[in-house]
Amino acid sequence: MDTKLLFQDAPSLVTPLLAVFAVDLSTGKDATALPALLTTNNALSKAAATVLSSGEFKAGSCETLLLHAPSGIKAERLLIVGLGKVSKLTVHEVRKGAGAAVRFAKPRGLRELAMTLPEAASLSDDPIESLPTQLTARAIVEGAYVGDFDPDTYRSDRKDLSIQMLTVVSNAKEGSSEGKEFQTGVSEGIIFGTSQNFARTLVNEPGNVLTPTVLGARAKAELEPLGIKTEVYSTEKLQELKMGSFWGVAKGSAEPPALVVMTYEPEKATSSEVIGLVGKGITFDTGGISIKPSEGMEKMKYDMAGAAAMIGAMRAIAQLKPTVKVISVVCSAENMPSGTAYKPGDVLTAMSGKTIEIINTDAEGRLVLADGLAYARKLGVTRLIDAATLTGACVVALGMLNAGLFSNDEATWQRFMDGTKLSGENFWRLPCTDEYRDLIKSNIADIMNTGGSRWGGAITAAMFLKEFVEDTPWIHLDIAGCAWMEEQKPWIAKGPSGIAVRSIVEWVRSYA
Ligand code: BES
Ligand code: ZN
Ligand code: ZN
Repeated sequence: MDTKLLFQDAPSLVTPLLAVFAVDLSTGKDATALPALLTTNNALSKAAATVLSSGEFKAGSCETLLLHAPSGIKAERLLIVGLGKVSKLTVHEVRKGAGAAVRFAKPRGLRELAMTLPEAASLSDDPIESLPTQLTARAIVEGAYVGDFDPDTYRSDRKDLSIQMLTVVSNAKEGSSEGKEFQTGVSEGIIFGTSQNFARTLVNEPGNVLTPTVLGARAKAELEPLGIKTEVYSTEKLQELKMGSFWGVAKGSAEPPALVVMTYEPEKATSSEVIGLVGKGITFDTGGISIKPSEGMEKMKYDMAGAAAMIGAMRAIAQLKPTVKVISVVCSAENMPSGTAYKPGDVLTAMSGKTIEIINTDAEGRLVLADGLAYARKLGVTRLIDAATLTGACVVALGMLNAGLFSNDEATWQRFMDGTKLSGENFWRLPCTDEYRDLIKSNIADIMNTGGSRWGGAITAAMFLKEFVEDTPWIHLDIAGCAWMEEQKPWIAKGPSGIAVRSIVEWVRSYA
């Protein structure tokens, strides 16, 4: 998809489809809807006036209504996209609305569309505070890119319905401060949207295609041209670094592991911080000797979504160029049962020197991350974040609308949450206080790789990781429930979601 921005009056734009956003002005739950367009343009309002007063369209979130040959404007079609009640309006609604417009256009074979930037001043002289120009422009473009992604890449009858050209139109004056915000928003939206989609492309790949080696190669091919130093290591390096925990998982597979180290060095750092991003990259999780039930196992190709989020984040960071150094460590392996696989009862020695009694070989993510987190610290990071499809227990606790978040530092957590207001992604904090530490005590070694019982499984996993971050301020994201959309939504396809890319990047640049 190519994107262009235009400083122009929307009615004079020649396009197969022009999307305009609308809100519901009514207050109160059962009040009759009062749809209104988010534009100050008279011709657009006039073209939509009859249908808006008909009561057919309520401007609900992602509700769409199509007018052919709208009168008084040059577009062939006018698509009105609802963003819900004005009192609840956020830029994230705009993001979803833009995705819904794209997903409306795609199956109808429309390869080009335009969208009008919602105007904060459209309803009254008092601008709508929730629609600052830059963020709104960014959200439109992000939403459009996210909406454009479909996962059917391996279908021989696949028709590529992707959008070729997106035009975003604003009536701001080119060169004005608002015009500049519009431009910055659009450029950032492209970076965020394409980076999130890059992560989704990786997660979408089947396990036989995307082995750890291929994951490393794809990261390198994407990031090196963008100026990110990308080193891809394998078995020898794991042994040299004494990564016994990571290697314990990796040694059961015929596919060699990959340790991917990506470094972003700013031209001029304005901060002494070095941010560390660590991702779980299990390209397929069978459970190992503690093998998983076969039902639904095919989904475990997405067990590298944490790694993909970090690679996607590095892709965006390379282009946004924050003035802070970032090092990302991805630990990739395949978790297989075999004659060389690790077993329950084995004791592994992690890079940090801690010994780990294996209770369940399906709790492999924390094992690869243990060495990844320790290695990031060794490389000098001052603040850490990890992302992992770590536990089914987190999905039980939070469902699929919030990812789990754990942190050992209030200020770091707060920063991250502030960023999610911009990214529109949902994370819910769960505890990892030291009272829980007893749950992972072992009789034979320093710690066990699971808590003895099922209870609080997302927390015991976080407690395990906490052993390896020691005193470094740290955030752990358990994205098991959010990395894969079980059903499609109006704004996004079923399949890999690309969760956490936007929030991680926002968090990183808050330190610049
Ligand atoms: N990759 C899984 C976690 C997972 C489960 C992700 C379901 C998405 C959906 C992880 O490696 C795992 O198997 N965890 C075990 C841990 C248990 C053995 C302590 C789990 O959650 O069951
Ligand atoms: Zn597992
Ligand atoms: Zn796993």
